[in-house]
Amino acid sequence: MNQVMQLYPLPGGEWPLQGLYLGHDLRQYGGAGGRPFVYSNFVTSLDGRIAVAHPTRPGLMVPKQIANERDWRLFQELAVQADVIITSGRYLRDYADGRAQEILDIYEDPRFADLGEWRVARGLRPQPDLAVISGSLRFPIPPALTAGGRNVVIFTVAEAEPARIEALEAQAGKVIVAGERMVDGKQLVQRLAEMGYGTVFSGTGPKVLHLLLAAGVLDRLYVTYANRLLGGLSYATLVEGELLEPAVGMRLNTLYYDPYGLEGLGQLFVSYDRAEGSA
Ligand SMILES: NC(=O)c1ccc[n+]([C@@H]2O[C@H](COP(=O)([O-])OP(=O)(O)OC[C@H]3O[C@@H](n4cnc5c(N)ncnc54)[C@H](OP(=O)(O)O)[C@@H]3O)[C@@H](O)[C@H]2O)c1
Repeated sequence: MNQVMQLYPLPGGEWPLQGLYLGHDLRQYGGAGGRPFVYSNFVTSLDGRIAVAHPTRPGLMVPKQIANERDWRLFQELAVQADVIITSGRYLRDYADGRAQEILDIYEDPRFADLGEWRVARGLRPQPDLAVISGSLRFPIPPALTAGGRNVVIFTVAEAEPARIEALEAQAGKVIVAGERMVDGKQLVQRLAEMGYGTVFSGTGPKVLHLLLAAGVLDRLYVTYANRLLGGLSYATLVEGELLEPAVGMRLNTLYYDPYGLEGLGQLFVSYDRAEGSA
């Protein structure tokens, strides 16, 4: 039950799910070439839905038909390798009303205690720091955000309300303007590099993925293809924003088949590297 099959690169083989993405050893790439290694992760249905309409409240949520424990374990194995996790104003608004998946305070959960120990064994701080991207700056600061001495840095735009910037600086951490009307991916990653971050994990959604792709700063994309089709009229997909010109080429890095996920329906765990010279 714990095994997944490696289908690429060949020759493949069987691996335990637990430890699969820790084995990718992302920290080896951090800081290489003078800038951080930036990676992101999504779980999607076969018809490309990463979020669908919430049944009772405005806005979207990760579809419960595709969210699953095995994918969540791998998400956490990616997150634990980061110096800093990118999240968004939207995430903190959803967190405040109790509908967001927990990413702020994870290693207290006995299922992920080994990951907390993984950080400690490497001399890392107990939790990755957080970079919040928000144009509106309209989000509350949950206590978990700053717990345990974790650093929080907020990236916003030139037109953000000065009073809100002041309030957040007093409450949470540094606020950095990194763009006029939209946070710019190049400025974002440049500032994170200056702060000494080597591995940067974006755990947020399609607009942030777009800004990372448009700026040519995303190095690796992890996608879980859950073997379900969802339909629906209101949904989000991997990337949201203007047409990317040129299109961003991605090269297959790894492909695993998980026959046990989703009550035996199965799923694919795939990772891609940005092709050299793309974007
Ligand atoms: N299936 C999956 O793997 C997966 C992964 C991630 C997210 N999701 C889902 O997808 C949906 C959308 O995710 P999301 O809202 O976190 O992601 P998002 O669409 O990337 O970002 C949303 C928020 O980030 C800020 N933002 C994004 N780009 C910006 C820019 N260029 N400049 C300034 N601010 C910017 C905005 O905050 P302000 O509104 O505060 O200005 C915006 O509301 C959610 O339902 C989420 O649950 C699914």
